[in-house]
Amino acid sequence: MELSQPEPNEGPRKDVIIINRRSFFAVLLGLVTAGVGTLLAIPVLRYILYPLNAITGEKGWSSVGKMTEFTNLRQPIRKMITVTQLDGWRKVVTQQTVFVTHGAKGKPQVLSAICPHLGCNLAWHKKQNEFVCPCHGGRFSPTGQHVYGPPPRGMDPLPSKIAGGELIVHFEYFREDVPNREVLS
Ligand code: FES
Repeated sequence: MELSQPEPNEGPRKDVIIINRRSFFAVLLGLVTAGVGTLLAIPVLRYILYPLNAITGEKGWSSVGKMTEFTNLRQPIRKMITVTQLDGWRKVVTQQTVFVTHGAKGKPQVLSAICPHLGCNLAWHKKQNEFVCPCHGGRFSPTGQHVYGPPPRGMDPLPSKIAGGELIVHFEYFREDVPNREVLS
């Protein structure tokens, strides 16, 4: 773009904008660049903002073992499971301990090994026929009912189902030291 200079005898100055071919292409190039930039920014923005929309802490189902292991449960069986949790951009993989016990109608029931009092790991004591907490002496029956000590409720059951001949579980964390079970994540 160029501004014409007024001639000395032209009278009052009038600025006239002349758009020549060079400035036209400069404007066009600017518009094309802005358009391409916007198109490229959309997927990048979507990627950056995805974790804000995603449900954080989302966990899948974990295998506990083949159902044949749990058909004749005489006492609780301790199992380690692998829990995969999506937390924003990160995939967090942890190992958790659960117990498989007798449930209703002969189905196996999966219990969290985290003590509902203050979160210590419970252990199965075969001789006592009880779960025992090493921290404050809380005790639970073989099916997870509260028997003795400071825990305000029984052991926490986890959602489980049978798929492809395997027992699978959805691991959850619960609020500690409250009488009513409350899922945290
Ligand atoms: S943490 Fe288990 S009884 Fe306190």
